[in-house]
Amino acid sequence: MHQPGKKVLRRIASIGFMRPVRRFAIQAFERASNMQLIPASFDDDRQLSDLIKRISQERDTLLSNVEGAQIYRTVRALAKIPGHIAEVGVYRGASSRIIREAEPGKPFHLFDTFEGLPKPSGNDEAFYEGAYKSSLEDVKGYLKPYQNLHFYKGLFPETAEPVREVRFSFVHLDVDLYESTLSGLDFFWPRLTPGGALISHDYSSSPGVSRAFDEFFSDRNVAVFPLAYTQCMVVKPGV
Ligand SMILES: C[S@@+](CC[C@H](N)C(=O)[O-])C[C@H]1O[C@@H](n2cnc3c(N)ncnc32)[C@H](O)[C@@H]1O
Repeated sequence: MHQPGKKVLRRIASIGFMRPVRRFAIQAFERASNMQLIPASFDDDRQLSDLIKRISQERDTLLSNVEGAQIYRTVRALAKIPGHIAEVGVYRGASSRIIREAEPGKPFHLFDTFEGLPKPSGNDEAFYEGAYKSSLEDVKGYLKPYQNLHFYKGLFPETAEPVREVRFSFVHLDVDLYESTLSGLDFFWPRLTPGGALISHDYSSSPGVSRAFDEFFSDRNVAVFPLAYTQCMVVKPGV
């Protein structure tokens, strides 16, 4: 379906100072109209709902509350699957905190340039180099209450060498771009434990991300599950 405004909206949302404006506009509309633009379908779980809302108020993030809850529940469900946890695309640490709250024990590896997006390729629309610039020190401070975190600053997969021998039960990719998504799949798919899962943000909203998934899984007998909003999930087969 042709959606002419979508590209413009994504571009606006990627401009740093527009995100608080967008969140304010959504909340004001919800209050005035008594309608929920972002339904809290996880409201049956008050504690989780409060946690996700608090994190999204503390930290600038493009993750919707429902997507945050999806990550949290998946990580919890994978508790018995052995392996470390990884995230590529930390930005200011919102999704990292959700993951850590869901699984406080397993070693957690966090990858980001902390200098914003690398140069987009011809497969990426509406993103620009340097968007989502953040600070490693700021993120370390935000995640200070948590143990067993390992930070890797720089361009992934160049930073992946220290975890080459590690196996993972859960991976979160939130990198917006074709090349970054493809290199995340290349690296982590062979290292996912059987029964482990990988969630990516922006599968249905970013053409580069969906293209990377389509290409990578085209000759593999694996289902790519579209989730609520923009995410998708793949589960590693095996016993
Ligand atoms: C949309 S932000 C991530 C948002 C974050 N997950 C959250 O919950 O708010 C995308 C991030 O991906 C990072 N990124 C994209 N490609 C990368 C790569 N190849 N290596 C390292 N970081 C990358 C950018 O630096 C940026 O911080």
